[in-house]
Amino acid sequence: VLDLARMESGKDIFNLSETDFRPALKKLCQDFGTLVSLEEVRFTCDLEEGAYPIRAEVFHLENAVNNLLDNAKKYSDDPVISLRATRENGYLVIRIQDNGRGISPEDQKRIFQKYFRVGEGDLHNVKGYGLGLSYVKKVIDAMKGKISLQSKLGQGTLISIQIPLTHG
Ligand SMILES: Nc1ncnc2c1ncn2[C@@H]1O[C@H](COP(=O)(O)OP(=O)(O)O)[C@@H](O)[C@H]1O
Ligand SMILES: [Mg+2]
Repeated sequence: VLDLARMESGKDIFNLSETDFRPALKKLCQDFGTLVSLEEVRFTCDLEEGAYPIRAEVFHLENAVNNLLDNAKKYSDDPVISLRATRENGYLVIRIQDNGRGISPEDQKRIFQKYFRVGEGDLHNVKGYGLGLSYVKKVIDAMKGKISLQSKLGQGTLISIQIPLTHG
């Protein structure tokens, strides 16, 4: 939350530097795997071989991916979650798929807005501030990346982030 405030003051913004994101992503997957290993969560991580050279602020990008994994877990009753990373057409593509409650087409238009949470029935048994995805979008925008969403109510959600590769 502090970081979000800092970003919005427009002062700081990001310190992008060239980095191979694969080792960081691998570590993140291991840590998330450890975190959920005591819960009824099935998690797989599949990272295409080779380097992932991008211009990023690793701290924020890791936070963003962790936010997406956290959502995948929070909004799924019997979570089966996968993270896949590939290089496609000059982009690093990271896809996070879950089998959770999904997001309706109307709500899909709004979930990247600050404070927006799907508010129906018992949904707010799940705690949150509605800030995660607006933060994720800011981080991806700062890296000239793209974020896209495919989701079906009751079936699950696939979020893809694409970050330009600096070479290769
Ligand atoms: N993987 C997902 N599956 C279903 N709904 C989701 C998923 N990710 C996000 N959402 C919906 O989008 C809203 C906004 O997400 P987010 O910004 O991360 O806020 P928070 O998780 O704090 O509520 C969530 O409250 C939830 O309703
Ligand atoms: Mg969240």
